Amino acid sequence: MARVLYFILLTTFIPFLIVAQQTNGNASVPVGASLIPTYNGTPWLSPSGDFAFGFKQIHQKDSFLLSIWYDKIPENTVVWYPKDGPMVPRGSKVELTNGRGLVPSDPQGEEIWTSGSNNSELAYGFMNDIGNFVIVDSISHKIWESFCFPTDTILPTQVMEREEEINSKISETNFTTGRFQLRFLKDGNIFLRKRDIPSGILYNVYYRSGTRDDSNMTNSGLQLTFDETGYMYILRRSGQIFELNQKDALPSKLYYQRATLLSDRGFTQYYYLKNPTSNTNWEVLWSLPNDRCKWIDENTEGSGACGLNSVCSLDGIRTNCECPHGFSLLDRNDPNGDSKPDFTQTCDKGYDRDRFGFIELTNIDWPESDYVRVQPTTEENCKTFCLQDCFPSCCNLQGPTMLEEEASTV
Ligand SMILES: *[C@@H]1O[C@H](CO)[C@@H](O)[C@H](O)[C@H]1NC(C)=O
Ligand SMILES: *[C@@H]1O[C@H](CO)[C@@H](O)[C@H](O)[C@H]1NC(C)=O
Ligand SMILES: *[C@@H]1O[C@H](CO)[C@@H](O)[C@H](O)[C@H]1NC(C)=O
Ligand SMILES: *[C@@H]1O[C@H](CO)[C@@H](O)[C@H](O)[C@H]1NC(C)=O
Repeated sequence: MARVLYFILLTTFIPFLIVAQQTNGNASVPVGASLIPTYNGTPWLSPSGDFAFGFKQIHQKDSFLLSIWYDKIPENTVVWYPKDGPMVPRGSKVELTNGRGLVPSDPQGEEIWTSGSNNSELAYGFMNDIGNFVIVDSISHKIWESFCFPTDTILPTQVMEREEEINSKISETNFTTGRFQLRFLKDGNIFLRKRDIPSGILYNVYYRSGTRDDSNMTNSGLQLTFDETGYMYILRRSGQIFELNQKDALPSKLYYQRATLLSDRGFTQYYYLKNPTSNTNWEVLWSLPNDRCKWIDENTEGSGACGLNSVCSLDGIRTNCECPHGFSLLDRNDPNGDSKPDFTQTCDKGYDRDRFGFIELTNIDWPESDYVRVQPTTEENCKTFCLQDCFPSCCNLQGPTMLEEEASTV
């Protein structure tokens, strides 16, 4: 037996064995290995067991997401998934295929997606302890790594280059590309902006790092770095640093950390105590922007983090979106989505005092939604004026609808 092994070692498998040693034992995934979604299947684990790669069941249904998650914490928080998070049923598979990389397929054997591998002769895949799934070729080049294709989360030691982006998902259970994007622009600036889900059109920048300097290029941003201790900064070409957070370092031995662009628009850095003595959870270290119900753009429109016609409020770090009275969610599964009126508004009936009334809402602003100003007036006069307008707006209930419709046709 020893002689046979020796022979193999000297011929075909030298590169494989050498690299396998570097990768710490059984955590490397050989070419040809595959995984199928099951309710308690064994994923590909990192050597420490902190991270797992595999099919994760999403909310008790027969639908699974190919992803990377924190395996040692009860939440099993997902930190990576392929773009648009395609859900697959039981009977699907993912295989590490020579020349092609990771190839997930559905129960009919149809390919869903491939990581691509440049036609290279692959050696192995590897789920490492920083949460990066890496595919290596026979001459030890990294062919593909999940860190180069972040979706909504970045992890400590991960770097974002210019022209890279992360996107929020639609909701906790829908991993389709959602409403918000963090993008590192070519000019060195980082933008957080809103995106239209069906069309992917980007509008409304609600955060700008300001790390672009046209007069002196060396001051422009080059890389976004999230270091091991949780310190996040933009490195300028000059080597100087623009801090995104000024928090104290959190030792990576004690804490897990991640930064996620949430479905409610906040780019939020979290930490989690690794060996808690009692129940613990992800705690917020820091979040951008500070007030998620406000836009910072000059063209302020809309309802902050919420959809059209919705009322946005902050509850600590969480954003609440609510439809006003007489409105309901366009999509019941999307609480941060648009609200639609439960009534039809027409001008056919003219002035009809009985069909409309007033509901008073306090501490609410409908920014930029005014289209008629009646001055001087009293509250009663304003109400009468409003009722006489068959497409009422002055007392503001319909304001945002009209403005947003205008905005979306531009
Ligand atoms: C393989 O790796 C897992 C996770 O790190 C570890 O628990 C297990 O003991 C390892 N098995 C062997 C045979 O080394
Ligand atoms: C892919 O192949 C091309 C051409 O052989 C090469 O220039 C490039 O560096 C390769 N990319 C990777 C990621 O190995
Ligand atoms: C996720 O949301 C998109 C867009 O609203 C929808 O088309 C898709 O069916 C949803 N997916 C799931 C799994 O609910
Ligand atoms: C550009 O900025 C760098 C770093 O702030 C500074 O050292 C340098 O003098 C500036 N160059 C010019 C031409 O202003």
